[in-house]
Order: sequence, then C-alpha cells, then structure tokens
Amino acid sequence: MTFVLASNNEKKLIELREILSDLGLEVISQRQAGLRLEVEETGTTFEENAFLKAKGACDALGLPAIADDSGLEVAALGGAPGVFSARYGAENGVELSSAERNALLLRNTAKAEDRRARFVSAIACVFPDGTVLRARGEVYGELLRAPRGDGGFGYDPIFWLPELGKSMAELDPEEKNAISHRGRALREFRQKLIALREDGRGGKVE
Ligand code: IMP
Repeated sequence: MTFVLASNNEKKLIELREILSDLGLEVISQRQAGLRLEVEETGTTFEENAFLKAKGACDALGLPAIADDSGLEVAALGGAPGVFSARYGAENGVELSSAERNALLLRNTAKAEDRRARFVSAIACVFPDGTVLRARGEVYGELLRAPRGDGGFGYDPIFWLPELGKSMAELDPEEKNAISHRGRALREFRQKLIALREDGRGGKVE
C-alpha cells in the first residue's frame, strides 16, 4: 500500500521511509503524488494541525496520508511558542532565521529561573475509509542560556538534555532519533500501524 506524506519536507520523508521500510509500505511525498497543497494550520494543538494536514491530502488524493506537526513548549512562557514554533517572531509574513529565533527566545526567557521545556511531535494518519491513527512523542529538557552545538536544526542548539549532558544539537542523527519527540512518535505510529494491519481496518493495510 502507498502512503502519502502530507509535507514537502525531504528530511521527514527519509525518516518515515526508514521507520516503515521493513513493513513493505511505500511512502511518497505529496509533491510526488502531484499534489500542491498548503493546508492552513489553524488548529490550536499539534494534534489538530497534524490531522488537518493529513485529512487534506487524503481527501485530495484518495490515499492514506500521514502528517506530523511539532514544536517547542517552554514552561516559563506558558507553553509558547508551541504550535507557532516555526513562525515565532515572524512579522508581516517575514520569518526569522533559526539563529534569530533562538536568540529571541533566549531574550524572552532571560529573566526566567524555570528553564523547563519540551519538544512535542504529533502524527496523524487518515485513511480513505475514515480510519484515523494518531501518535505523540515528547522529550523533556531545559532551555540553555546560549546556543551549543551545530547539529540538528531549529531550536536544537538551545535545548539541553540533562541526562545526556549535551544539547540536542550535540547529538548525532542516530542519537537524536533514539530520544527525540519525532522518533518516539514515529515508533508509536509504527506499532499502531502494525496493529491496524493485523485487525484489517484502514481499508486493509497490506
Ligand atoms: P513543523 O512540524 O515542520 O511545522 O515544525 C515546527 C517547528 O518546530 C520547526 O520549524 C522548528 O522550529 C521546531 N522543531 C520541531 N522539531 C524540532 C526539532 O527536532 N529540533 C528543533 N526544532 C524543532
């Protein structure tokens, strides 16, 4: 069975393919499927946004569609930037670079003693018969006071993992995948897909 990834992010496509390859499932991007779709992320939760993106692609193509939505929640900011993580600090539609976004977040939390933060990833998979699979992964850490490391992307350089004694940007890709919110959500999704296949719902995932 072919799945569509409701995203144009090549990195996500590679990750998904890796985690689903031994199940004999093919994953193609929505671009490969000939779909140009920018679903408005109007949801107030990661789950809602993941569902909106997956449902949009599934409805348009008649194929099972997978989407993820992720971001960083900072305790001292009441959970911000959250679903606005990619657009944090944007003005008049002009987005900041990752380095600028990180600098802004550090300025906005400069006085905060509470450094707790977490990354969240929500995955939704919508099947043409209406079946919906959901998965969620989280990783807890602390906001640093200055960036460290040059791996990863986005907020990784300012996210500290106390148990590992490293920032997220100091992990190699395998290490990050083993503990990251997205890695966890993908592994949960994989398990749910296997269970779904066993009980024959989702239009028979073969
Ligand atoms: P999206 O899920 O592609 O919309 O990503 C949302 C935003 O959350 C990204 O642009 C990043 O700023 C942030 N983000 C999500 N996952 C990660 C991660 O693993 N490391 C660093 N930043 C992340």
